[in-house]
Amino acid sequence: MKRSMLLVCLLPLAMWSADAALKAEGERVYLSHGCYGCHGVSGEGVNNFPRLSGKSAAYLAERLKALKKGKGRTPKKEIMVPYAKALDEKQIEAVSAYLASAADASDENLEVPEDILGGSNM
Ligand code: HEC
Repeated sequence: MKRSMLLVCLLPLAMWSADAALKAEGERVYLSHGCYGCHGVSGEGVNNFPRLSGKSAAYLAERLKALKKGKGRTPKKEIMVPYAKALDEKQIEAVSAYLASAADASDENLEVPEDILGGSNM
């Protein structure tokens, strides 16, 4: 009885932290692979490059898997395909979870972590 009560209390916490860890990993993938160069710092989209933030994780993962196989929606896919190919399944899942939750991130002051920038003082 006591044990099951404890489980009921801890389960949401465990699920929350697994989700947070996945999104944190996804943000790392997004920044370290240079995705922001075309899609914006938080996936908000730049010029003709599509917005990614706020789209569903399932949709994003499906698009990335298709692009990995060379299937895109426009002739511009050619520049995206190598980036999709560089991601493994786990990274696709993580980056999709991150972007799906990054809907309001364009308002934030997002800073690229120092270890990704190489710790230079700018
Ligand atoms: C050099 C520019 C460039 C970079 C860097 C880039 N992309 Fe893209 N991305 C594109 C273009 C162009 C498309 C549209 C492809 C098409 O026509 O299907 C696209 C499409 C996408 C799509 C599908 C969007 C949709 O709504 O169909 C996803 C998801 C995506 N990119 C994720 C990423 C991720 C994650 C990274 C980093 C690993 C990344 N991109 C890096 C240019 C880029």
